Amino acid sequence: MTESVVDIVHQNIHQRQSIGSLVAPAPTAEQLEYAFQAALTAPDHHRLKPTSFVVVPDEQREAFGLLLSQALIDLGETETAQIERVKNHPFRAPLLVLALTRLQDHPKVPHFEQILSSGAAIQNFLLSLQAQGFSTMWRSGVVVESTLFKQALGISKDDLISGIIYIGTAAKTIASRADIQTSNYVSYWHPNN
Ligand SMILES: Cc1cc2nc3c(=O)[nH]c(=O)nc-3n(C[C@H](O)[C@H](O)[C@H](O)COP(=O)(O)O)c2cc1C
Repeated sequence: MTESVVDIVHQNIHQRQSIGSLVAPAPTAEQLEYAFQAALTAPDHHRLKPTSFVVVPDEQREAFGLLLSQALIDLGETETAQIERVKNHPFRAPLLVLALTRLQDHPKVPHFEQILSSGAAIQNFLLSLQAQGFSTMWRSGVVVESTLFKQALGISKDDLISGIIYIGTAAKTIASRADIQTSNYVSYWHPNN
């Protein structure tokens, strides 16, 4: 029996799981473009387009690791081991993509809506990559608070580095997601509640 489109879409959503252990191949430029197209269809009040992406290609991972270490120093870290450790973070995957959220002051669109829109864009991005056979890990860490890091990415100190997304091919399989008891999280509103 052929699977319906609904089944395929739901399977893709359910099968997405964060994978920390990522190896080549990474998506091609064309596959990545497909994922950006998906990301940028996220709900976005007044089409402010708060989300943008910065690709850190394979050959720039060392330089990017250096920037991460400078960000950590910027935040007051003095422990050499921590500073050295973060330099290796980009080598956890063959491709990194940063998701940025530029916040605008808008009379009808508060900042929280713009931040949520970015979250939706990132999820679309992850799901598109998943559908194309790749795995991902959405990370942040203290470095995203660094003004020096934000400046290096061309955003202001009030904007957000909403994610450092690690992308590649899963190096190992992981146990499937536990069953979800929606009744713990879903209720039906009634005026007498
Ligand atoms: C905004 C955001 C930032 C995150 N930052 C980190 C992080 O720095 N390190 C980490 O191990 N997980 C981080 N996570 C959690 C993982 O991305 C992942 O969602 C979590 O491990 C649950 O796994 P799952 O995606 O397979 O359900 C972050 C998640 C979000 C939404």
